Amino acid sequence: MSRLRLSCDPLYHIGRRPPVLSEPVGVVLLGATGSIGTQTVELAERYPDKVRVLGLSAGGRVDELSNLVARLERAGAAEAPAVTLAYDDSHRRAREDARLSRNLLPSGREGLLELAALPGADCVVNGLVGAVGLEPTLAAAKAGRRIALANKESLVVGGDLVRRAVVQGGADVIPVDSEHSALAQCLAGRDPDEIESLTLTASGGPFRTLSAAEMSTVTREQVLKHPTWEMGPKITVDSATLMNKGLEVIEAHVLFGLPYSRLDVVVHPGSTVHSLAVFRDGSVMAQLGAPDMRVPLLYALGGERHLDLETERLDLAVLGELHFEAPDPERFPCLRLAREAGEAGGTATITLNGANEAAVAALLDDTLAYTDIARVIEGALEALPAVPVDTLEDALTADAEARRVAETLIKETFGA
Ligand SMILES: NC(=O)c1ccc[n+]([C@@H]2O[C@H](COP(=O)([O-])OP(=O)(O)OC[C@H]3O[C@@H](n4cnc5c(N)ncnc54)[C@H](OP(=O)(O)O)[C@@H]3O)[C@@H](O)[C@H]2O)c1
Repeated sequence: MSRLRLSCDPLYHIGRRPPVLSEPVGVVLLGATGSIGTQTVELAERYPDKVRVLGLSAGGRVDELSNLVARLERAGAAEAPAVTLAYDDSHRRAREDARLSRNLLPSGREGLLELAALPGADCVVNGLVGAVGLEPTLAAAKAGRRIALANKESLVVGGDLVRRAVVQGGADVIPVDSEHSALAQCLAGRDPDEIESLTLTASGGPFRTLSAAEMSTVTREQVLKHPTWEMGPKITVDSATLMNKGLEVIEAHVLFGLPYSRLDVVVHPGSTVHSLAVFRDGSVMAQLGAPDMRVPLLYALGGERHLDLETERLDLAVLGELHFEAPDPERFPCLRLAREAGEAGGTATITLNGANEAAVAALLDDTLAYTDIARVIEGALEALPAVPVDTLEDALTADAEARRVAETLIKETFGA
């Protein structure tokens, strides 16, 4: 049998399940106050025998963080966990909070990196949003943790760096993104040689059926209304532009090692089929389920085992049919831009991500129109030709440069 070549070493260990950790699994939760974070807290509350939260981080939401700690302690899933906040003013407020002040780490980057490598922890759930998630992923990888990775930006910005750190620390990365979790499930027990291609499903977002003219007048509120998933604001905007799928194609390339030519996207508005693997004999394996992020989260926390979870069960007879269609690259240029950046490699995916983060922030501030997001990203990619990335400093410099160029474009060319 001739070999189908992988284009890089897969970060995810196809065909090998990570070891069973003794329960309860000691978990550090980065981005605890967000959508992924609170759903992880919910799981820990329900299963304190399986999950024990040793540390939590938040950006600025002090009261929410304190409430999460209270909930976990009431449920017997934590006891004076270590906590940190991103911003100094929030950190100062946390010092006044009876629950948070007991085990408060330094603020900002320092606290986040300390938490990511917290001694005694088995697993780090990275639910941070944006490129800020990269360094904690690297710290957790070097410390040899199981990383339940929701923060796809870590792999878009620092795929090679994460791969090296995982090897160095003997860590395991298990994807939490529902599509990549689905693919990991389809590939369980397989040899990488058996895979012909992978297909990621995309809901198509709220503007799937709008014309280009209609898209040019959508409001921020319309962008923030996702048809099937309830998520944080940044990924919700990314889902509306299909940049989320673009980032996920890059994430799939890093995780599974396949060249971009063998990574496909199909629009599937119901979000029932979470993704599909095509094998060399034409067999297709798909993973299906009701859209519920707790399923991939628990699968990752449990070391890729299907554990008990009370969730909505899929009733195919009630569902009746599944609908699929091809994505439209004209109306959704972000998908094309992401693929091109992935193919270009080096700093191109960092530029794509940094410019996208700047553009999304501007849309959320009501200073950029939805259809200008792709224009800002394309402008940044044109202004900053791709160069190789060898070190973390290279990546951070490229990220800062991308944001600077994008912010100038937003202010001087496109912004409201
Ligand atoms: N939500 C989903 O269903 C879903 C599904 C698949 C993948 N993902 C991925 O998971 C990640 C998290 O998404 P999300 O929807 O959970 O995001 P989110 O709801 O916006 O939560 C983000 C978390 O990160 C914290 N944070 C934000 N900026 C920070 C900074 N500069 N430094 C430190 N902490 C910071 C926030 O803290 P504060 O709120 O306290 O400021 C919050 O705890 C993203 O990469 C996303 O693409 C999410």
